[in-house]
Amino acid sequence: MDRIRIVGGNKLNGTIPISGAKNAALPLMIASLLTDETLILDNVPRLADVAQLQRILGNHGLDIMSKGKRPGDHEYQGQTLHISAANIIDTTAPYELVSKMRASFWVIAPLLARMKEARVSLPGGCAIGTRPVDLLIMALEKLGAELQIDGGYVIAKAPGGLVGAEIDFPKVTVSGTHVALMAATLARGTTAINNAACEPEIVDVADCLNKMGAKISGAGTPRIVIEGVSKLHGARHTVLPDRIEAGTYAMAVAMTGGDVQLAGARPELLQSALDVLTEAGATITPNNEGIRVTRNGAGISPVKVTTAPFPGFPTDLQAQLMALMACAKGSSHITETIFENRFMHVQELARFGARISLDGETAIIDGIAKLRGAPVMATDLRASVSLVIAGLAAEGETMVNRIYHLDRGFERLEEKLSACGATIERISG
Ligand code: UD1
Repeated sequence: MDRIRIVGGNKLNGTIPISGAKNAALPLMIASLLTDETLILDNVPRLADVAQLQRILGNHGLDIMSKGKRPGDHEYQGQTLHISAANIIDTTAPYELVSKMRASFWVIAPLLARMKEARVSLPGGCAIGTRPVDLLIMALEKLGAELQIDGGYVIAKAPGGLVGAEIDFPKVTVSGTHVALMAATLARGTTAINNAACEPEIVDVADCLNKMGAKISGAGTPRIVIEGVSKLHGARHTVLPDRIEAGTYAMAVAMTGGDVQLAGARPELLQSALDVLTEAGATITPNNEGIRVTRNGAGISPVKVTTAPFPGFPTDLQAQLMALMACAKGSSHITETIFENRFMHVQELARFGARISLDGETAIIDGIAKLRGAPVMATDLRASVSLVIAGLAAEGETMVNRIYHLDRGFERLEEKLSACGATIERISG
């Protein structure tokens, strides 16, 4: 199994290109199931999760062609996928595939909308809490689907097609909003999604669906209205930049010190995180090419942060912020409100000498002057990268084990960081 070795202590200086957003690329690829024409997606990141979803979609009979880089392309433009769902040969998404990536459960929505049936395995356990799908099922039932659970599979049918409805989510859910949005595009009549997630990735998917002929308004607000259409067509769409990747590298710079341009990052996608970084003592300068992050001399100030749905502070940056606060001059409080049990990195950060105690949903971090490198183990995607950030700032050597989590969500991580002066390498085997 691959590992990452880091020798900490170097400042980061240079440019880091920001890749396309994983959390937009996945639902956009899934949306291709809604049409028998080709959907072309640009700026798709090269990630293990994208490759896994390609296999899952291939199982349904989709034809996916990926075009390499053309001369003159910037590296961060990612890959272009041509996805054709002209022939859906199977409406079953099996356990072996869905259990490897939760988001693949979302295929239930377009399959049901277009093929009027789907049989999709329940995703099963996950390292960050129970992560149920009850609200996704509720949304599809509202749209007139008949669902039953049998042998670990959700068997969904809508023989007469889906019908527009009013869907009220009792809590903000990104997965629920994606599923309701995709299903409603081909439903008869009008659907309204209330208490919808406002995440930029939802807006990106809605933009793409509109290019495919859907009639969606209000994406990015808590009420999305969809007028159903009978058919969607092909389109071309560019995946928006990854705000979590940008925020992660911004925190790395805040922690090590230095001066880095996050090329292609869009500040409005992560304003809450940038505000927290400014409060912590980093200098954030949005410019035409992205966001410049610097921290010179001054130490890190402690902060009090609570995760929240967009535009609040993202749960996907919580672990990284905790690594940063481990070196703050004082005591920080980080409260996690989105996922239960999303504090597995606490034990691993403690291996660097970090002083963190838990009080229910709140972590109290007493900053220390210097972390010390250690062997650590990655537990989930975002927790893993918090260990990398800690390793970059720590004194001595850090070995991050089980890095397949990192490959799921961070494109060319070692390459991007070493180009800015970090001592970081992948050790294979
Ligand atoms: C997505 C993101 C993930 C991010 C999360 C929150 C993708 C591929 N993943 O995950 O990176 O951390 O949004 O921003 O886009 N819930 C229920 N019932 C449901 C569905 C969700 O109770 O049927 C709960 C969850 O357990 C969680 C909360 O709602 O406590 C939010 O989950 P949700 O927004 O749906 O997260 P994901 O879409 O799974």
